[in-house]
Amino acid sequence: RYGLKTNILGSHIHYEETVDSTQKVAHQLATDGASEGTIVVAEEQISGRGRMDRKWISPKYTGVWMSIILRPQLPPHRAPQLTLIAAVAVVQAIEEVTGLTAEIKWPNDVLINGKKITGILTEMQADADRIVSIIMGIGINVNQKLDDYPKEIQSIATSLSIEKKEEISRAQIIQSLLFKLEKLYQLYLQHGFQPIRILWESYAISIGKRIKARTLSGTITGKAIGITDEGILLLEDEAGVQHQIYSADIELE
Ligand code: BTN
Repeated sequence: RYGLKTNILGSHIHYEETVDSTQKVAHQLATDGASEGTIVVAEEQISGRGRMDRKWISPKYTGVWMSIILRPQLPPHRAPQLTLIAAVAVVQAIEEVTGLTAEIKWPNDVLINGKKITGILTEMQADADRIVSIIMGIGINVNQKLDDYPKEIQSIATSLSIEKKEEISRAQIIQSLLFKLEKLYQLYLQHGFQPIRILWESYAISIGKRIKARTLSGTITGKAIGITDEGILLLEDEAGVQHQIYSADIELE
């Protein structure tokens, strides 16, 4: 099992050279009944997907492009918490393998030196009261060179090798990530979101700072004061009114 030290995550591995999107493959597998912990890993994605209908550029052999199927026995409103768990696991894996310090920008960006290194896309299939499956998509930029990025992206995106100034093993990142994620997922299932929330807030950059949240219905400016138990961002505007932000792009002011 490729040197994995996990029990559940990676119990079934679908490895592909090229896919449209590992999310799409994982959705199909989940619909066909794939068990919890099944992962899809590809060397390259032709139509990698990001949040809010954006593309996720996934060139061959340079990154970790992976989707993980989870089947937690939980109500659908708890799904956002799983995205936050994934971000914590990514930060811990990056730290373990490279020694680099990464930070989280709500809800799901992982940054190094203020530039994006990882994106997480959590999608769900659910009944009215139960999650049927969660497809947790994680894209980590590992061995891209600065020149691989278009000029306009160079100031906002980075890779582990750019930051560390050496090649990084993608296999090691996957091993470490699945290990950390499994530990956190079990902690979460046993003890709820509270311990995850404490870890998450300790890695988050936006908490306590003034931010601009661009939502589909408009932009709100204010201070990020924390996340709720459900993983929703709390923002306090100038008038002292609290807003719950379910989905937005965040910019530090
Ligand atoms: C974002 O920051 O917008 C989320 C990006 C998520 C990218 C990953 S790569 C593996 C999985 N497959 C996809 O098509 N997207 C996710």
